[in-house]
Amino acid sequence: MKKYNVAVVGATGAVGREMLSILEEREFPFDNLKLLASERSAGKKMTCKGKEYTVEATTPESFEGVDIALFSAGAGASKKFAPEAAKRGAVVVDNSSQWRMDPEVPLVVPEVNPEDIFKHKGIIANPNCSTIQMVAALKPIYDKVGIERIVVSTYQAVSGTGKAAIDELREQAKAILADEEVKSEVYPYQIAFNVLPHIDIFFDDGYTKEEIKMVNETKKIMGDDSIKVTATAARVPVVYGHAESLNIETKEKLTVSEAKELLDNAPGVSVVDKPEELAYPMQIDVENNDDVLVGRIREDNTIEKGLNLWIVANNLRKGAALNTIQIAERLVQG
Ligand code: A2P
Repeated sequence: MKKYNVAVVGATGAVGREMLSILEEREFPFDNLKLLASERSAGKKMTCKGKEYTVEATTPESFEGVDIALFSAGAGASKKFAPEAAKRGAVVVDNSSQWRMDPEVPLVVPEVNPEDIFKHKGIIANPNCSTIQMVAALKPIYDKVGIERIVVSTYQAVSGTGKAAIDELREQAKAILADEEVKSEVYPYQIAFNVLPHIDIFFDDGYTKEEIKMVNETKKIMGDDSIKVTATAARVPVVYGHAESLNIETKEKLTVSEAKELLDNAPGVSVVDKPEELAYPMQIDVENNDDVLVGRIREDNTIEKGLNLWIVANNLRKGAALNTIQIAERLVQG
C-alpha cells in the first residue's frame, strides 16, 4: 500500500490534536509526518503512533515533499500557506473558512458530496462544524423527498473557538464557584453559566458570520441554491459537542417513521430517539462517539410537510478533524 507524507498545520491546537489521534486510530497510511504550528510552538514535542515528533514553525518550505497537508491553524495561516503547499504539489485539506466559498475549491462532507473531492486544484475545504453535522443528517431526507426550507438554531461548544476558550470556560466556572472575579478574554462576556447568541463577527443585517456560513455552505455542499436556510447560532457553556434544533419543510411528505428509517440507514448517522426511555442525543454522548446523533424527531403540525429534529455531533471530530481525515482517506483511495 502506498504511504503518504503528511503535514498537520496547527498540530498544537484543539483540532490539530484530534487530527493526530484520528490519524493513529484510523491507521491513515502515512510515511512521514510533519507537525507544524506557529513559531511559539517550535521545538515542542508531540507523539503520534508511539513516535515522538518535534513541532516546527510553518514556512513555505515546510511543504517540500509533502503529499497531503491537513490545515487547522485559522484562516490567516491558510490564506498564507495553503497556496504555498499546493504550489509544491501537496493536496491541502483545509479546516478554516478561508477557501470554503471559493468556486475553485470543493467543499466536502464525504457522506454528502464525495465526488467533489476529485475536482480539486490543490485545495479542498472542510466545512464549518455546524454545517457538517446538519447536512450529514439532512442528506438522506433531501435525496428522498427534497427540502424546501431549513430553520436551524445551534447550541455550540466552546472548543469550536479553540483551546484558549476551553481554558476560559474552566477558569470562569472555578472562579464563580469560589466566589472570585470572573475574567473574560476570549469572549466579550462570561461564558460559564451563560449563553451567548453570538458566534463570529456581526454583519450589517444583524446576522453573524457563523449563521451566514451555515446558509451559504449548505447550498454549496448540497449543490442546490434553491434550499432556503435561516440560522441562529449560540455559544453554550459546553466543552465538546454542538447541538442543533432543526425545523425543516420538505417538498414531499415524510412521516416520522419514514424519517427514522432513512436516518437509521444513513452512513455516519445514528438515531437516538426513544422518548419513553428518555433516549435523545446530548453533547455528553459524543465525546467518544463519531456519529451524528439525531433524535426528537417529530412532525411539525403547523405546516403540511414539516419535521423537527435535534442533532448532536462532536465538533472537533466529525465537525472538524474527522471530516478532514475522511476527505483525505477518499482522496488516497482514488
Ligand atoms: P501555536 O500553538 O503555536 O499557537 P486553536 O484553534 O486551539 O487555538 O489552535 C490554533 C492552532 O493554529 C495552533 O496549533 C497554533 O499554533 C496554530 N497557528 C496559529 N497561527 C498560526 C500561524 N500563523 N502559522 C501556523 N500555525 C498557526
